[in-house]
Amino acid sequence: MSWVAINSQEGVSESFVTLPTIDQKRILPHGTLPINILNINDLNYTLNNVSELCFDNGTKKTLLIEGYYPHTFGIWATHKLYRITYQIEGGGEQYIVAKIMNKKYGEKEFKLLLDLSECLNVPTPFHFLYDEELGKEDFFDVRGILWMNYVENQIHFEEYLLNWCITGQKKLELKDLTKSLCALWSAGVKHNDLKGEHLLFTGDEWFIIDFEKSVPYSGKEDIKDELAVLIGDSTAYFDGFITYHKISFEGVIKERYLAFINEFLSCFDINLKGNRYISVFSSAIQNKVLKSIYLSLGVG
Ligand SMILES: Nc1ncnc2c1ncn2[C@@H]1O[C@H](COP(=O)(O)OP(=O)(O)O)[C@@H](O)[C@H]1O
Ligand SMILES: [Mg+2]
Repeated sequence: MSWVAINSQEGVSESFVTLPTIDQKRILPHGTLPINILNINDLNYTLNNVSELCFDNGTKKTLLIEGYYPHTFGIWATHKLYRITYQIEGGGEQYIVAKIMNKKYGEKEFKLLLDLSECLNVPTPFHFLYDEELGKEDFFDVRGILWMNYVENQIHFEEYLLNWCITGQKKLELKDLTKSLCALWSAGVKHNDLKGEHLLFTGDEWFIIDFEKSVPYSGKEDIKDELAVLIGDSTAYFDGFITYHKISFEGVIKERYLAFINEFLSCFDINLKGNRYISVFSSAIQNKVLKSIYLSLGVG
């Protein structure tokens, strides 16, 4: 249940109203308003009148607004991302994504997505909508909306690792991901927040998202950082799962974890030795064997 219905033509949804306040705040964090994502009329007006969003013929009608709410193990984050389902007159239902961001980060992410969409799989950005007039006045914290296309995500990277190790999933589909990562670095970008949550798998292809923290790529050390973080984050997630469910890390599970690491790392001509993130993430890993395997990526 990653997407929770917030609002529709019928009003605020029951599933949103019945959530504990703390979870409602995860879906509608402070600062999401004043751009009123909850107002269906405003949304219809925007979808039909902002020229950058008029790529479909016919009038669009908003059917549903949903907030992003990860339910998966170990993830507790607040997101400012909405999926809007709309219908085009006489046609089928479509999705579009709205991410609420301040001007600096919205413009940055829009430009990066536009540039990167030329060479790797990222969501197609449509527009960063920002009210310049409001921005010029002395309002505190004016936000804009980054509009982009919806990527039908089947699984995040850390869940994929978990499935591979635990459920005996048949094949590893990592080639396309490693190609995209190399294309990203070649395009001069260090993602700088590369973790499972920011990799979406459609079943055929991997997409990279959320470039808010990215910085210019400055050499091979950056590749080490990115891989140590990605493997560290998904290993910590995996560790949380096996610890919680009291699954022992041995036999097939251990072999599969090692196969995953080997297959993934062998695609990059890189040795993680000495990387500062290895010790950071290993301190979060409780299982002793898993910790020593992850630590060993940084030595030898
Ligand atoms: N274009 C998209 N299509 C589908 N899902 C998306 C898209 N962009 C983001 N998401 C989902 O929303 C989550 C939060 O998005 P993200 O860009 O990371 O925003 P935040 O800055 O709030 O973390 C992602 O982990 C992903 O699951
Ligand atoms: Mg994010």
